[in-house]
Amino acid sequence: MKFAIIYATKHGCTNKCAHTLANNLDINTALFNIETDKNINISNYDSIILGGSIHAGAVNKKLSGFMEKNLNILLQKNLGLFICCMFEGDQALEQFRNAFPESIRNKAEAHGLFGGELTLEKMNLFEKAIIKKIANVEENVSKINYSNIKAFAEKMKSQ
Ligand SMILES: Cc1cc2nc3c(=O)[nH]c(=O)nc-3n(C[C@H](O)[C@H](O)[C@H](O)COP(=O)(O)O)c2cc1C
Repeated sequence: MKFAIIYATKHGCTNKCAHTLANNLDINTALFNIETDKNINISNYDSIILGGSIHAGAVNKKLSGFMEKNLNILLQKNLGLFICCMFEGDQALEQFRNAFPESIRNKAEAHGLFGGELTLEKMNLFEKAIIKKIANVEENVSKINYSNIKAFAEKMKSQ
């Protein structure tokens, strides 16, 4: 089984989760950062994992664009989907639903909520102000859910 993880990250949390997931999957798992890796060719992979982070309620636009452009080929693959976000429970589930088109969600074997991180030194002044107001946060927070990443990897491997 050849895996590729295609992800979008703003401050590095999704990058960290994607690499942790790859380590749990298979030594040959390919990782593609949608911002920096151009011309991603997914035809060589059996399983595609799409991951993005949530900012102001929405997933990274480049990831949405990628899914739209490659919808037909994606629907022919084994799929897994995950998001990184700070909200939990129903709010996180709603953000997950909004992040991926319905056809892709229905096809995916594994759905993952990997938690998130707030890294103040990576935020601009505007982002810091929003986070301070909404989350009342004065220092970095890490809430990555490593057991969800592990369970997601096991599910993908069992396909
Ligand atoms: C400006 C800003 C807005 C955010 N908005 C949301 C949000 O609407 N919902 C949420 O669950 N998390 C939100 N977050 C938290 C991010 O999803 C979290 O920091 C995530 O780990 C970012 O991943 P990344 O570093 O890969 O982009 C926000 C974070 C920032 C800095």
